[in-house]
Amino acid sequence: VRIRRLELEEIDVVRPLWTAMLEHHRSVTPDMRVRSPDDSWPRRRVEYGRWLADPGSFALLAEDDGQPLGYAVVHVTDGDDTWDTGDRRADLESLSVAPAARGRGVGGALLDAVDEELDRLGVTDMFLGVVATNLDAVRFYERRGLRPYLTVMHRRRG
Ligand SMILES: CC(C)(COP(=O)(O)OP(=O)(O)OC[C@H]1O[C@@H](n2cnc3c(N)ncnc32)[C@H](O)[C@@H]1OP(=O)(O)O)[C@@H](O)C(=O)NCCC(=O)NCCS
Repeated sequence: VRIRRLELEEIDVVRPLWTAMLEHHRSVTPDMRVRSPDDSWPRRRVEYGRWLADPGSFALLAEDDGQPLGYAVVHVTDGDDTWDTGDRRADLESLSVAPAARGRGVGGALLDAVDEELDRLGVTDMFLGVVATNLDAVRFYERRGLRPYLTVMHRRRG
Protein backbone atom coordinates (compact mmCIF):
# COMPACT_ATOMS: atom_id res chain seq x y z
CA VAL A 1 0.00 0.00 0.00
CA ARG A 2 1.39 3.36 -1.05
CA ILE A 3 0.34 6.67 0.48
CA ARG A 4 0.72 9.84 -1.54
CA ARG A 5 -0.53 13.40 -1.69
CA LEU A 6 -3.82 13.80 -3.50
CA GLU A 7 -4.32 17.05 -5.42
CA LEU A 8 -7.67 18.81 -5.68
CA GLU A 9 -7.67 18.33 -9.48
CA GLU A 10 -7.87 14.53 -9.01
CA ILE A 11 -10.25 14.55 -6.05
CA ASP A 12 -12.96 12.70 -8.02
CA VAL A 13 -10.98 9.45 -7.61
CA VAL A 14 -12.18 9.32 -3.98
CA ARG A 15 -15.86 9.59 -4.85
CA PRO A 16 -16.43 5.79 -4.35
CA LEU A 17 -14.71 6.03 -0.95
CA TRP A 18 -16.96 8.95 0.00
CA THR A 19 -19.97 6.91 -1.13
CA ALA A 20 -18.76 4.02 1.07
CA MET A 21 -18.62 6.43 4.01
CA LEU A 22 -22.20 7.57 3.32
CA GLU A 23 -23.32 3.93 3.28
CA HIS A 24 -21.48 3.28 6.52
CA HIS A 25 -23.14 6.30 8.11
CA ARG A 26 -26.53 5.09 6.92
CA SER A 27 -25.87 1.77 8.66
CA VAL A 28 -24.88 3.31 12.01
CA THR A 29 -27.46 6.14 12.16
CA PRO A 30 -30.95 4.75 11.56
CA ASP A 31 -32.49 7.98 12.97
CA MET A 32 -30.66 10.40 10.67
CA ARG A 33 -31.36 10.92 6.98
CA VAL A 34 -28.26 10.48 4.83
CA ARG A 35 -28.06 12.20 1.43
CA SER A 36 -27.83 10.13 -1.74
CA PRO A 37 -24.31 9.93 -3.27
CA ASP A 38 -25.38 12.06 -6.26
CA ASP A 39 -26.67 14.75 -3.91
CA SER A 40 -23.82 14.53 -1.41
CA TRP A 41 -20.65 14.30 -3.52
CA PRO A 42 -20.96 17.67 -5.36
CA ARG A 43 -21.47 19.39 -1.99
CA ARG A 44 -18.51 17.60 -0.45
CA ARG A 45 -16.36 18.40 -3.45
CA VAL A 46 -17.03 22.12 -2.99
CA GLU A 47 -16.02 21.83 0.67
CA TYR A 48 -12.79 20.03 -0.24
CA GLY A 49 -12.00 22.90 -2.60
CA ARG A 50 -12.52 25.46 0.18
CA TRP A 51 -10.57 23.52 2.79
CA LEU A 52 -7.62 22.63 0.58
CA ALA A 53 -7.22 26.29 -0.42
CA ASP A 54 -6.16 27.08 3.16
CA PRO A 55 -2.37 26.95 3.66
CA GLY A 56 -1.12 23.70 5.19
CA SER A 57 -4.30 21.76 4.37
CA PHE A 58 -3.77 18.48 2.53
CA ALA A 59 -5.32 15.26 1.22
CA LEU A 60 -3.67 11.82 1.23
CA LEU A 61 -4.56 8.80 -0.87
CA ALA A 62 -3.73 5.18 -0.02
CA GLU A 63 -3.55 3.02 -3.11
CA ASP A 64 -2.57 -0.48 -4.10
CA ASP A 65 -1.37 -0.88 -7.65
CA GLY A 66 -3.18 2.32 -8.65
CA GLN A 67 -6.43 1.26 -6.94
CA PRO A 68 -7.67 3.77 -4.32
CA LEU A 69 -8.04 2.00 -0.95
CA GLY A 70 -8.57 4.93 1.38
CA TYR A 71 -8.09 8.65 1.86
CA ALA A 72 -7.79 11.37 4.45
CA VAL A 73 -8.47 15.11 4.16
CA VAL A 74 -7.02 17.50 6.73
CA HIS A 75 -8.04 21.15 7.01
CA VAL A 76 -5.45 23.33 8.74
CA THR A 77 -6.80 26.64 10.05
CA ASP A 78 -6.16 29.33 12.62
CA GLY A 79 -5.79 28.21 16.20
CA ASP A 80 -8.98 27.76 18.18
CA ASP A 81 -10.22 30.81 20.12
CA THR A 82 -11.23 28.91 23.25
CA TRP A 83 -8.88 25.95 23.41
CA ASP A 84 -5.24 26.91 23.38
CA THR A 85 -4.11 24.97 20.35
CA GLY A 86 -1.33 27.35 19.38
CA ASP A 87 -1.57 29.42 16.21
CA ARG A 88 -2.86 26.63 14.00
CA ARG A 89 -5.05 23.59 14.50
CA ALA A 90 -6.04 20.69 12.26
CA ASP A 91 -9.45 19.18 11.52
CA LEU A 92 -9.56 15.69 10.08
CA GLU A 93 -12.50 16.23 7.73
CA SER A 94 -12.56 12.79 6.11
CA LEU A 95 -11.11 9.36 6.72
CA SER A 96 -12.51 6.50 4.72
CA VAL A 97 -11.23 3.06 3.75
CA ALA A 98 -12.89 0.90 1.08
CA PRO A 99 -15.11 -1.76 2.71
CA ALA A 100 -13.05 -4.67 1.34
CA ALA A 101 -9.82 -3.16 2.68
CA ARG A 102 -10.94 -2.34 6.25
CA GLY A 103 -9.22 -3.89 9.23
CA ARG A 104 -5.91 -4.34 7.37
CA GLY A 105 -4.08 -1.30 8.66
CA VAL A 106 -4.85 1.14 5.82
CA GLY A 107 -6.67 3.60 8.09
CA GLY A 108 -3.87 3.40 10.66
CA ALA A 109 -1.24 4.01 7.97
CA LEU A 110 -3.18 7.03 6.72
CA LEU A 111 -3.36 8.49 10.23
CA ASP A 112 0.39 7.87 10.68
CA ALA A 113 1.00 9.84 7.48
CA VAL A 114 -1.34 12.61 8.71
CA ASP A 115 0.62 12.78 11.97
CA GLU A 116 3.92 12.99 10.10
CA GLU A 117 2.68 15.90 8.00
CA LEU A 118 1.25 17.71 11.03
CA ASP A 119 4.57 17.25 12.86
CA ARG A 120 6.32 18.77 9.86
CA LEU A 121 3.91 21.73 9.98
CA GLY A 122 4.31 22.09 13.74
CA VAL A 123 0.56 21.59 14.29
CA THR A 124 -0.03 19.82 17.61
CA ASP A 125 -3.81 19.71 17.98
CA MET A 126 -6.12 17.72 15.71
CA PHE A 127 -9.92 17.56 15.98
CA LEU A 128 -12.38 15.27 14.24
CA GLY A 129 -16.07 14.56 14.39
CA VAL A 130 -17.27 10.99 14.65
CA VAL A 131 -20.86 9.82 14.88
CA ALA A 132 -21.44 8.59 18.43
CA THR A 133 -22.87 5.26 17.22
CA ASN A 134 -19.91 4.59 14.91
CA LEU A 135 -18.37 2.47 17.63
CA ASP A 136 -15.70 0.74 15.52
CA ALA A 137 -14.36 4.10 14.41
CA VAL A 138 -14.49 5.51 17.97
CA ARG A 139 -12.44 2.51 19.15
CA PHE A 140 -10.00 3.01 16.28
CA TYR A 141 -9.47 6.68 17.24
CA GLU A 142 -9.27 6.00 20.97
CA ARG A 143 -6.57 3.41 20.39
CA ARG A 144 -4.64 6.20 18.72
CA GLY A 145 -4.94 8.48 21.74
CA LEU A 146 -7.92 10.61 20.70
CA ARG A 147 -10.55 11.32 23.35
CA PRO A 148 -14.12 12.69 23.17
CA TYR A 149 -14.37 16.32 24.29
CA LEU A 150 -17.50 17.78 22.65
CA THR A 151 -21.07 16.55 22.32
CA VAL A 152 -23.00 17.86 19.31
CA MET A 153 -26.79 17.83 19.85
CA HIS A 154 -29.33 17.68 17.04
CA ARG A 155 -33.08 17.77 16.58
CA ARG A 156 -35.42 18.14 13.66
CA ARG A 157 -38.59 20.15 14.37
CA GLY A 158 -41.98 19.17 13.16
C1 LIG B 1 -12.63 3.66 10.56
C2 LIG B 1 -11.68 3.29 9.42
C3 LIG B 1 -11.17 4.54 8.73
C4 LIG B 1 -10.47 2.53 10.03
O1 LIG B 1 -9.59 2.13 8.99
P1 LIG B 1 -9.14 0.60 8.87
O2 LIG B 1 -8.16 0.49 7.77
O3 LIG B 1 -10.36 -0.26 8.80
O4 LIG B 1 -8.45 0.41 10.31
P2 LIG B 1 -7.11 -0.36 10.68
O5 LIG B 1 -7.06 -1.68 9.96
O6 LIG B 1 -5.94 0.56 10.54
O7 LIG B 1 -7.35 -0.58 12.24
C5 LIG B 1 -8.30 -1.56 12.67
C6 LIG B 1 -9.24 -0.96 13.65
O8 LIG B 1 -10.12 -0.07 12.97
C7 LIG B 1 -11.41 -0.14 13.54
N1 LIG B 1 -12.39 -0.46 12.52
C8 LIG B 1 -13.41 0.39 12.22
N2 LIG B 1 -14.18 -0.15 11.27
C9 LIG B 1 -13.66 -1.35 10.97
C10 LIG B 1 -14.04 -2.38 10.06
N3 LIG B 1 -15.14 -2.29 9.29
N4 LIG B 1 -13.29 -3.51 10.00
C11 LIG B 1 -12.21 -3.63 10.79
N5 LIG B 1 -11.79 -2.69 11.65
C12 LIG B 1 -12.52 -1.56 11.76
C13 LIG B 1 -11.34 -1.13 14.66
O9 LIG B 1 -11.09 -0.37 15.84
C14 LIG B 1 -10.15 -1.96 14.32
O10 LIG B 1 -9.59 -2.45 15.46
P3 LIG B 1 -10.25 -3.68 16.29
O11 LIG B 1 -9.21 -4.73 16.25
O12 LIG B 1 -10.50 -3.08 17.63
O13 LIG B 1 -11.51 -4.11 15.62
C15 LIG B 1 -12.35 2.36 8.36
O14 LIG B 1 -12.74 1.15 8.97
C16 LIG B 1 -13.56 2.98 7.69
O15 LIG B 1 -13.42 3.61 6.63
N6 LIG B 1 -14.77 2.80 8.26
C17 LIG B 1 -15.99 3.32 7.66
C18 LIG B 1 -16.02 4.84 7.53
C19 LIG B 1 -15.75 5.52 8.85
O16 LIG B 1 -16.32 5.17 9.88
N7 LIG B 1 -14.85 6.52 8.83
C20 LIG B 1 -14.55 7.33 9.98
C21 LIG B 1 -15.54 8.44 10.05
S1 LIG B 1 -15.15 9.57 11.35
